[in-house]
This record gives sequence, C-alpha cells and structure tokens, in this order.
Amino acid sequence: MSDATSAATTPTADEVRQAVDSVPLWYHTIDLPHGISTPGWFDLRPILDKMLWPDLTGKRCLDVGTWDGFLAFEMERRGASEVVAIDIPDHTQWDVPVRGRAHVAKTLDVMVGEEKGNGFETAHRLLGSKVQRTISSVYDLTPDKVGEFDFAICGSLLLHLRDPVRALEAIRSVTRGQFLSTDFLRLRTTIMHPRKPIAQLDGDPALVQWWHPNLAGLRHMIHTAGFEITKQSRPYAIPLGVGHPPVTALKDKAFGLGRRALLGRDGLPHVAILTEPSRLD
Ligand SMILES: C[S@@+](CC[C@H](N)C(=O)[O-])C[C@H]1O[C@@H](n2cnc3c(N)ncnc32)[C@H](O)[C@@H]1O
Repeated sequence: MSDATSAATTPTADEVRQAVDSVPLWYHTIDLPHGISTPGWFDLRPILDKMLWPDLTGKRCLDVGTWDGFLAFEMERRGASEVVAIDIPDHTQWDVPVRGRAHVAKTLDVMVGEEKGNGFETAHRLLGSKVQRTISSVYDLTPDKVGEFDFAICGSLLLHLRDPVRALEAIRSVTRGQFLSTDFLRLRTTIMHPRKPIAQLDGDPALVQWWHPNLAGLRHMIHTAGFEITKQSRPYAIPLGVGHPPVTALKDKAFGLGRRALLGRDGLPHVAILTEPSRLD
C-alpha cells in the first residue's frame, strides 16, 4: 500500500473520537487506533487469558451474539482465516419474558439507541476488520445457512435465553471443531452444590435473564446439548467497564466484596468451558 493510500484510509485521532462518541451505548471496551478505547459497559480485555483459546490460525470461526464484536475481532486478531459474527436484528427480539415486553422495549431503546449494530459497524470500520456480521438468531443456525466452523464461541448469552439447551444444539449443528462457552454462573449455588446441576429461574424482565446455573448446571446443559467437555477454566469475573452505570446499592457493593475475595476482582462471575461435539452414535 502506498503512503498516500494508507494516509487516506487510516482515521485520525479526532475521527476515531468522533466515531466513538456517535455510538449511544458501547457494550464492549474495544481498543481502537491512536490508543483510544470505547467506553464499554464491560471490559473483557483483562480476562482474555482466562478464556482457554485454542490456536485459531487459519480457522473458520463463529461468534454467537456478538454485540459490539469484541470476541469476533479478537478471533481475527488471533489469526482466524474467516470470522462470522451473528446477532439478532434488534433488541425487541431478545427472549423477553412476557411480563416485561413493554417495559424492556422502552429501556433498551434508551440504552441501545434506535439502530442495533452501530457499535459493531463503527469498530469494524475503525479497525479495518473483515469480520462478517450476519443477522441470525442462535436458534436458527444451520449448516445450510452459515456453513460449518472449526471454532465457535458463545459468550454471556445462555443466561439471556429461554431455551439455552436448544441454542447449544443449534451451535453444535454448525461446529465441526471446537466450541468455547464463556458464560455466566452463579457463585453461591456453585459453592453450596458443587456436584448437583442447578439452574435457578430468574425471569427478570428488565435485564432479560432466564437461567442462572451453577457450574455443574452449566456443564450439564452443555453436555446435554451434545458436547464433550475437554477443558474448563476456574471461575473468573468480567469487570465492569468505564461506561457502566455506577453500582450504588449497598447490597451490590457487599456482593462485590465477596466476588473480590473469591475471584480476585469484582465483576460478573463467568467460566470458560472448551468442548468438542460428542459422537452421538
Ligand atoms: C450479553 S451480550 C454478550 C455479548 C458478547 N457475546 C460477549 O460475550 O461479551 C448478549 C448478546 O447476544 C445477543 N442475543 C440475544 N438473543 C440472541 C439470540 N436469540 N440469538 C443471537 N444473539 C442473541 C444480544 O443481542 C447481545 O448482542
């Protein structure tokens, strides 16, 4: 590339800042050119090394429920030959509990702005990324629609789904290599019931949360959907990013202290589980 072409395509620091400011809400903290980062609600950068990444060089990869695309861009950075990132067309398509539909449509409108995906598109452009964003629900994944993948990841989505096992089965149908789940787990039931699979029904309409599994519950969901677990991380916390509203309630602060003691930092408790599709014959 000549200097003239590269100067024309590399955004200036002011252009990056303006583009970042034009997105009403950033879910992910993403490093962009000129040392500028997006003010995400969550910051996955410090926990990347906990996530059991296999070698992705030359692999065809899938990111399920990509939002601003942090995990998809990370797979590209790790040498994937192709990355497909799926998400639903707009926030009203989340599995919103019936009691919360009117309320959630309003709160998500305020949070996300009118157009879902503008954070992804902005980061994609500023990073010069080749990740392909495709509109699809996880439930609709089939090999005919998206092909098969050497590696698939699904992060922080299972707890938001009414039917996480059906979603995992759909991911399995397009995974010929490995699948990495990096999802939420409940610490209290993990400690109290280390062997008993439990998924507590939450049904919170505001945050669209359905099932809060303990570690055994999450492992059992993944196994039930037809995956063999090959590796598992220790539970870790995903820290809140600078864009997250401050946590003020005393109860939440107290839970934060507990998470700090157990996981080394405050944040949302997660675990990484690396798998392969089981032979089912
Ligand atoms: C909590 S965010 C997690 C973002 C990212 N995967 C991560 O690990 O940080 C959940 C994402 O899943 C998407 N989502 C919700 N329901 C979905 C569905 N049925 N199919 C695909 N994506 C969905 C949401 O739109 C959102 O982008």
